[in-house]
Amino acid sequence: MEVIISKTSEAMSKAAALEVADVLNTKPNAVLGLATGSTPLGLYKELARLHKEEGLNFSQVTTFNLDEYVGLPGSHSQSYHYFMHENFFKHVNIPTQNTFIPSGTTSNYKAFCAWYEQRIADCGGIDVQILGIGTDGHIAFNEPTSSLQSRTRLKTLAESTIDDNARFFDTREEVPIYAITMGVGTILESQRIVLLANGKNKAKAIAEAVEGPITSMNTASALQMHGSTRVFLDDEAASELKMREYYDWVRDKKPGAPQL
Ligand code: F6R
Repeated sequence: MEVIISKTSEAMSKAAALEVADVLNTKPNAVLGLATGSTPLGLYKELARLHKEEGLNFSQVTTFNLDEYVGLPGSHSQSYHYFMHENFFKHVNIPTQNTFIPSGTTSNYKAFCAWYEQRIADCGGIDVQILGIGTDGHIAFNEPTSSLQSRTRLKTLAESTIDDNARFFDTREEVPIYAITMGVGTILESQRIVLLANGKNKAKAIAEAVEGPITSMNTASALQMHGSTRVFLDDEAASELKMREYYDWVRDKKPGAPQL
């Protein structure tokens, strides 16, 4: 894992956006894996700016979202379909038919999950997967004790995740209890992974994911087994890392490193 720490959340988002832009500039028909939630909002804003002001082209891009709440139609203001449209898709030129988000309203979840996995494979796999992290260390909705080989499936959310996400709903009771989510195994097959975290409330989960043992108790820790993961943090999210000096040293020495 490479850990890139920025002073602010805004700088973190810009650094991660450059990573995504780099993928698109080398592979214009890249397949992007996308996350929702508060964390990637700055990244999507910066990608939209790069599109509008610097011509970053999404016309050949395909996207797959990590997850969706079960029971919320795409028109619901808290559905991830709605989130993606409002915060990203309507600001860039990705063809709508190239955007895939798990269905929260299918009548056959098992069949839908198998189709979603197959669709990712048919598109050549994910080139870069964007991830946030839950306070319990989850990636997508792979809650603690999820299999580290899991695939896209229906998942029951942890009560702590329901608590965390209640801020987006009028009442806690409205937060869906189930979600459809890519598995840890699905995520680990991405060519590159960009994990983002900002704020003090993510510091513990990040320290465990990056420097702790690989464990299903923090599913983000499985990213230690992935060969090309970059972790973009702000100062607060990095505040419990023991190896901070080393990460900054690597960053500072990078310009002089031999090119592989
Ligand atoms: C969302 C997702 C989740 C979030 C995580 C952090 O698609 O997959 O894993 O990334 O719950 O959410 P925020 O960014 O709202 O703190």
